[in-house]
Amino acid sequence: MKKIVVIPGDGIGKEITDSAVVVLKKIDDKFKLNLQFKYHDAGGTAYDKFGVPLPDETLNACKEADAVLFGAVGGTKWDNVKADLRPERAILGLRKGLGLYANLRPVKVADALTKNSPLKPELVTGVDLVIVRELVGGIYFGDRCESEIKDGVERAWDLENYSVPEVERIAKLAFETSKIRRGKLTSVDKANVLATSRLWRRTVTKLANDYADIELNHLYVDNCAMQLAVNPKQFDVIVTGNLFGDILSDEAAVIGGSIGLMPSASIGELTSLYEPIHGSAPDIAGKGIANPMGTILSAAMLLRYSLHAEEAAQTIESAVYKTLDDGFRTADIYSDDFKKVGTDEVTQAICERL
Ligand code: IPM
Ligand code: MN
Repeated sequence: MKKIVVIPGDGIGKEITDSAVVVLKKIDDKFKLNLQFKYHDAGGTAYDKFGVPLPDETLNACKEADAVLFGAVGGTKWDNVKADLRPERAILGLRKGLGLYANLRPVKVADALTKNSPLKPELVTGVDLVIVRELVGGIYFGDRCESEIKDGVERAWDLENYSVPEVERIAKLAFETSKIRRGKLTSVDKANVLATSRLWRRTVTKLANDYADIELNHLYVDNCAMQLAVNPKQFDVIVTGNLFGDILSDEAAVIGGSIGLMPSASIGELTSLYEPIHGSAPDIAGKGIANPMGTILSAAMLLRYSLHAEEAAQTIESAVYKTLDDGFRTADIYSDDFKKVGTDEVTQAICERL
């Protein structure tokens, strides 16, 4: 029995995780994976029920799970909630509580969607890269102060810090990821300004001695942001810290036509968590029009990394791309000449193609 904890969260989280579970059940019939699903609350939904965004019960269930499938959290409804009770604290608490130190965000541009990219087709055809984002350190988890008054002036601050072992751990995973891909690693920092980035660069450079076959280069984050727009095909694996990875992965995701298509895997020591990189989209929640593909592709990553069911993972990925090739489009990627479908219909189409 493989225990999967499902956390729908807020907004469209319920619809998209429902879709992914439908697909997983279908793949379970086919590959006999013996999956068991248990549902738990997190985010604003949990705050409304229990007064906290991440109940202990949810975190404990995740610790015992073989894998966690996560939807999305957040929404304008909770904009005025105190900082440490905001829905986003749920995902940050899960990352920290489960030690999910590495976030893999692959960006593959489907041939059928090159026209959806904001970039010219010749720039995006064949883009296949993965961002490896450090997920439990950096400015996200440093000391902070919401407000202090000094000499009559109010200020707030957030502290960025990285240790050598933290950088080594993520860099090692990035080198290993490059090894099974095209052998090219780009480390992204801001070493011309930040001390943490200089430590990052030194540490990655030193580790490169153990990986003679990997071609390593370093880019400043501002340059990397530009390179993603002018020549995204140059990238194979990008490794970077928590905040830079957050920003660059949204930028890279949209190159593929829609952020709704992009999956992620957050790899940890106890267990791993899989979620689409988009948010909870409260404006379209409950309308049945959300694109579930990012979550379904995250479920494929779950099969690959947590259950080592590579063939089942590839079956899902092929079915998603075939569904796009066959012209099915949710609202986020719809244009004339295609079949406009809602969440359930596109899920059905993917299931038929498994
Ligand atoms: C993401 C999200 C989160 C982050 C938010 C919801 C805290 O934007 O997964 O990229 O900033 O990491
Ligand atoms: Mn983000």
